[in-house]
Amino acid sequence: MFELSKEGVEFVKKEMQRYETKRSAIIPALYKVQEENGGWVSPECVTYLSQLMDLPEVWINEVLNFYTMFNKEPVGKYHVQVCCNVSCAMNGGRELADHLCKELNIKDGRHSEDGRYTLSRVECLGSCGTAPMMQVNDKYYENLTKESAVQILKELP
Ligand code: FES
Repeated sequence: MFELSKEGVEFVKKEMQRYETKRSAIIPALYKVQEENGGWVSPECVTYLSQLMDLPEVWINEVLNFYTMFNKEPVGKYHVQVCCNVSCAMNGGRELADHLCKELNIKDGRHSEDGRYTLSRVECLGSCGTAPMMQVNDKYYENLTKESAVQILKELP
């Protein structure tokens, strides 16, 4: 059964007091749950959060399903999000994603065989001026080439 750490619970309670309505604290609460649940938000996490925040599960699911920064399935140690929107696509973002799949042994288009990487093709991440780019967990990498992206990912600890 999923439960937040003591610090996690305190964080969520503090966020609930920070806003005019506690519903506004769903986003930071989901971030905390995702962080403590190994990078994704399971249905069990939603039930837990609903009880902790005393909010209907459907409100939490609405936020969870709207925003792409929340993962609804398990991800690898490194979640690689390659932007494939206009600016990045025009600068090789889609080819970059294909190349990374090949180099990282991602055969199903999502997960590397060793579970180290999960690759997602995403919409604009707001860094269009430095296309192509990718986000790996919380960090942005910009002005990428196929070679530099592979190097960055292979050098991660
Ligand atoms: S189009 Fe890729 S960051 Fe905006």
